[in-house]
Amino acid sequence: MADKRKIIMDVDTGSDDAIALVMAMLDQRFDLLGICSVNGNVDVNLTTDNSLRVVECCGKQDTVKVYRGADLPIVSTLMPYTPQVRWGVPRREGQRPGGQEVHPEHLPLPAPVTKEQPQSAVAFYLETLLAAEDHSVTLVPVGPLTNVALAIRSDPRIVDKIEEIVIMGGGYAVNNSTPAAEFNIFVDPEALEIVLQAGCKVTLVPLDATHQAYITGEEAKLFRAIGTKPANLVADLIEQRIIGYSRFDADMQTQAPIHDALAVCSILYPEVLKDVEFINVHVDISGGIAYGETILDRRNRTFGDPKNTYFAHGADREMFRDWMLEVLRKDAAKA
Ligand code: RIB
Ligand code: CA
Repeated sequence: MADKRKIIMDVDTGSDDAIALVMAMLDQRFDLLGICSVNGNVDVNLTTDNSLRVVECCGKQDTVKVYRGADLPIVSTLMPYTPQVRWGVPRREGQRPGGQEVHPEHLPLPAPVTKEQPQSAVAFYLETLLAAEDHSVTLVPVGPLTNVALAIRSDPRIVDKIEEIVIMGGGYAVNNSTPAAEFNIFVDPEALEIVLQAGCKVTLVPLDATHQAYITGEEAKLFRAIGTKPANLVADLIEQRIIGYSRFDADMQTQAPIHDALAVCSILYPEVLKDVEFINVHVDISGGIAYGETILDRRNRTFGDPKNTYFAHGADREMFRDWMLEVLRKDAAKA
């Protein structure tokens, strides 16, 4: 088998984060070096606990460790006037109809019997990356970018150790937390701007792509038919997400996007992302109505700033679905 792809998952587990973790742990082409939790969908105590639950559901607790990360964004909640404070960041999904179904505080799994590691997420990033070969590790942040930004700021030497940063976040024609911003970036806008200016190869898997790669309730039955604990968890979470989305998204009545898992899929299958453009992206960090917007410079109006991001405007839904089914079926066949 070709060399496994070394990855570090950074998650605000969350239901789609959980599905992304299942795929990252069960697809044998990954070498998952660790999981870093961050404040996001729910607070960091819960994202850490939920990540431990998923690791145990997949039976990987002996080899895959969880490192607790940041409990607050770097800047966005410091001042009382920002939307993040007025609306409460992380603006819990639970504050809107269907939010609790999309991101319950506790995933529908047994409470974990294992604990997170004593090292913080940032300490884990620094130790692991500084010891790694150049350009050898792919970071996969699928929650707010706080941990990754803090690690880069703490020791910029890690930048040369990173092969690519594949981020679920941002939006161009599609946003979900404000008219301009997607949730992961809205929680900590400055964090993404730090990452974008660091000089790594960055791929953004935004809502424009993830909303094309939805999974239907009928397809959830295909996952349940596999019959393993991980497959049943995926089916449960897809069905829960559909219930939640049906309450606040007119376009998602019998289906739901599985945002974070698409980012993981794109590492092995870049062709799953469609209409990808290499472009300069900045984040609005000015604190106004567009705070957290990912701004694409299509006419080189940022005074010649370099192109820094591969931005996907679409996705191949069937390829994404079939990858998840294949990985879970292969896992079942090993049982
Ligand atoms: O906007 C979608 C993103 O916000 C996903 O990563 C979801 O888990 C939430 O974190
Ligand atoms: Ca997430």
